[in-house]
Amino acid sequence: MKKIGIITALITFFTSVSLANEVNIFSARHYDSDIQLYEKFTVKTGIKVNVVSGKDKALQKRIKEEGKDCIADLYITADAGRLGAFQAEGMFQRGASSAAIKKAVPSNFRTAYWTGIAKRARIIYYSPERVNANDLKGMTYEDLADPKWKGRIVIRQSNNVYNQSLVASLIQNNGKKKTAEWAKGLVKNMARDSKGNDRAQILAVAAGEADLAVANTYYLALMLSGKKGAEQQAAAKKVKPFFPNQDGRGTHMNISGGGVLKYAPNKSNAIKLLEFLLTKEAQEHIVNNTFEYPMIDDVKPHNLVSKMGLGFKQDLKTKVSSYGKKQADALEVMLAASWK
Ligand SMILES: [Fe+2]
Repeated sequence: MKKIGIITALITFFTSVSLANEVNIFSARHYDSDIQLYEKFTVKTGIKVNVVSGKDKALQKRIKEEGKDCIADLYITADAGRLGAFQAEGMFQRGASSAAIKKAVPSNFRTAYWTGIAKRARIIYYSPERVNANDLKGMTYEDLADPKWKGRIVIRQSNNVYNQSLVASLIQNNGKKKTAEWAKGLVKNMARDSKGNDRAQILAVAAGEADLAVANTYYLALMLSGKKGAEQQAAAKKVKPFFPNQDGRGTHMNISGGGVLKYAPNKSNAIKLLEFLLTKEAQEHIVNNTFEYPMIDDVKPHNLVSKMGLGFKQDLKTKVSSYGKKQADALEVMLAASWK
């Protein structure tokens, strides 16, 4: 009995020691470069990083089902709507309001529960062969419903969260009723039933199947980089980026971000990791690997991203926390418009 007691005590001791020196990330981001970044954090702090990668739904399900027993400290994903909706379910604790995080991240890109780590813009791409750049001057997301674009637009499906966040931002700014009308107009303008990922929309414009596409900024840079092959690189050169709503609130911005989970066993390490991700060193690593925009001011985006347009007006007025709050409404208006 005594022996077992000692062994138990030893196990408890070593478990608590290891807990104190690690952090467990549940990540829905699919970048190998994130792993290298976590290794840098370990070298710097001695805190071991364990990563569980998966799809958002599966990760969220596990975190909810395991509750207090879940090892997860941080949930990291690539959409503010997902973070906001998870927060609404009470899954985070106030872990994103440290002085360092507040200092690094503009208030519209964070809440007390989660913070943006990198930014992405959801923009319009056009075919310079079939669309005169002058005709786009002053164009807004709202204008995507203009009948002059009938049969000319491609955008992915309504089940895609990036689209849900974009539509949520329209509801936040224009109301649900107006946005419901807008969604109907946009669906009428679609060149085809929505299908494929963001790169597939850019490819459709390059192939002449549509004149306008909606997709996130980093996808064009990724294609231009050649990492997706010579064919996609050539296709990317056939389209041009356009940043909407420049005369108004600015271009729709989304984030990759993370929050400290309610039952995080290693809360302080989780906050340390979030703070590390917002340092110049980490931000440079992120933008040069994922082609996202940096969250902090003194880091420049990747050259391919800068070339797309640097000084554009970002929507800093619409809080990204509104995307989660309006997510259900967004999906409702999209489905009501028969957006596939
Ligand atoms: Fe993406």
